[in-house]
Amino acid sequence: MSIYLGVNIDHIATIRQARNTKYPSPVDGALLCEKSGADSITLHLREDRRHIQDSDVEILREQLSTKMNLEMASTDEMIAIASKIRPQDCCLVPEKREELTTEGGLDVASQIPRMTDVCAQLKASNIVVSSRIVAMSFCEPRKDQIDAANQCGVPVIELHTGHYADTTGDEQKAEFERIKNIATYAHSIGLQVNAGHGLTMGNTRSIAQLPEIVELNIGHSIIARAVFVGLEQSVKEIKTLITKART
Ligand code: PXP
Repeated sequence: MSIYLGVNIDHIATIRQARNTKYPSPVDGALLCEKSGADSITLHLREDRRHIQDSDVEILREQLSTKMNLEMASTDEMIAIASKIRPQDCCLVPEKREELTTEGGLDVASQIPRMTDVCAQLKASNIVVSSRIVAMSFCEPRKDQIDAANQCGVPVIELHTGHYADTTGDEQKAEFERIKNIATYAHSIGLQVNAGHGLTMGNTRSIAQLPEIVELNIGHSIIARAVFVGLEQSVKEIKTLITKART
């Protein structure tokens, strides 16, 4: 089965916001990523707007020819924005102002009623506009979280690979086994399984080899590598790597 690459373009906006300039444009970057093989574009509209701005989301919704995966906290403000913008996918993530990046998975198990309501609201937008909104949760590789996501009516989960990426040796092997087992379990109960966070040219192959994984969302390493090889090549390299890993 094919594996799809979602490119997270937040860090193009991070460079722009560092100087409050108009460049580099995350819109131009996203379009180049699409041209280079990205199957979707991921962007996180944070509460503090530290990188992606509302106007980026609006313009990209018009201009993307693949699909937009809007990462967002499950706040009323973000639900209102998503309902207006109608991205093809919404990835619900936990958000802390002081964090450098999304540090962990969404704790769905402790907030099932709220998350059920959020998913219902996003799905309702889908019905009204015949868009293709998928409420996607971003879970730690833990069975209770997967069951909770399923209970909330989430069709897709994204497994957080951050701990796998940050470790080495036996610890990494153990985390990989955990991800592998939970991917098998989530798939067996009918959920689409995606993964992402901290993935690089060096650590992505084995994750991409897991047959249940449908989509990988990768950002920081692609943009970082683009500094040396250009964005086009950076996207092409990782796309080739994940495609080959699957065949
Ligand atoms: N998936 C989700 C839900 C994320 O929050 C992020 C980071 O914004 C990514 C994937 C991509 O992670 P990275 O930038 O480490 O590749």
